Amino acid sequence: MTSIGIHDLTVSTAHHVIDLAELAEAGGVDPAKFRVGLGQDRMSVPAADEDIVTMGAAAALPLLERHGTEGIRTVLFATESGVDQSKSAGLFVHELLGLPRTMRVVEFKQACYAATAALQSALGIVARNPGERVLVIASDVARYELDSPGEPTQGAGAVAMLVTADPALLAIEPVSGVAARDVDDFWRPNDSTTAVVDGRLSLTAYLGALTTAWDDFAARGGVEVAEIDRFCFHQPFTKMARKALKGLAQHTGADLKDSLQEETFPYNRELGNTYTASLYSGLASLLDHDDTLAGKRIGLFSYGSGAVGEFFTGIVQPGYQSLRRRDAVEAELDGRVPLTLAEYRELHSAEHPSDTDWETPRVTQGPFRFTGIRRQARQYEVRQA
Ligand code: HMG
Repeated sequence: MTSIGIHDLTVSTAHHVIDLAELAEAGGVDPAKFRVGLGQDRMSVPAADEDIVTMGAAAALPLLERHGTEGIRTVLFATESGVDQSKSAGLFVHELLGLPRTMRVVEFKQACYAATAALQSALGIVARNPGERVLVIASDVARYELDSPGEPTQGAGAVAMLVTADPALLAIEPVSGVAARDVDDFWRPNDSTTAVVDGRLSLTAYLGALTTAWDDFAARGGVEVAEIDRFCFHQPFTKMARKALKGLAQHTGADLKDSLQEETFPYNRELGNTYTASLYSGLASLLDHDDTLAGKRIGLFSYGSGAVGEFFTGIVQPGYQSLRRRDAVEAELDGRVPLTLAEYRELHSAEHPSDTDWETPRVTQGPFRFTGIRRQARQYEVRQA
């Protein structure tokens, strides 16, 4: 059977950055709590003229420049920080990227898990039509209340993936273990721009979904834990992935060392939580930092509050190193513009009415801008070269 999976993936993030050491000091917290306790160094913060659409389009652009658009008939946009209650953010991206009119475009939502639902759907579409390629975009802005425990776990970023037959990066294996349970650990009411979260419950809900999904994976014929060479978990903060690996080790009785996932951390320590994109920026980081992965099996765990989980595996393809973009990701991370804490708090508290026309200030230098609201509709532009 032809393999299907991730042919290539790209990471993009927001214009601004906050150093968590500064945030800690301002709040009278030991900086080691964020750096070691949460495993986070910095967090990306979007400028006034960017959002999930501009980040998602910016992530997808280099993918299309490298591989063209031929055969792409579907764009699946995953987010939990959607910009409209009805219209898919994917349609704005479709226009910004100049994609063909003959296209299926839709948005997926289930907290941080949605990108995995999109990926699984893409695998199904390609299995049915192996000549087609599917563009999956995961893009999110993680926002909690100022001065809340969740504040240092904010972040912003996007990952774009091209899903194809005979993929060059990761062939996804057929067995998946899934978990679902109605739990109020984290959610965002329609009239709120920040998430509501029960931090303690969210940790146990995550670990519970992991063991349920693992047991389902095992029951459905998934490989033994010892046959998995690396692990990549959803990372709301990187320490959570350490807790997850420890939890899986206890659950299975296997000796699972953090060296099996260490290379999944570098990008997410910088980005912060990117919700739907987080698992896949962890995967990008692993592929970009570990030279020894060809033929190796990666176990991936996707978690979405509310709460669902999925455990699945993929085999890294020979030659994956030739597709790396580590220099570009690091340049984007290093090029972020620091905000003072006063500027960050002002940006965080800014109102974004949808019933009045307004224009955003010109702040970003990226390929796409959110320009404001006109007649209640969001407006975007492609930056002219
Ligand atoms: P908190 O109560 O401020 O922190 O909130 P804490 O007191 O639990 O401390 C955190 C860690 O720092 C602990 O480590 C401390 O020991 C350590 P642990 O014991 O857990 O290993 N610590 C220190 N370490 C070194 N030096 C020090 C020091 N002081 C303390 N001086 C919490 C933490 C995560 C609850 C909070 O940030 C929060 O609510 N975050 C948002 C929710 C979240 O991220 N949950 C994760 C699971 S749910 C999920 O992944 C889904 C999500 O991505 C959304 C979605 O699916 O849509 C969030």
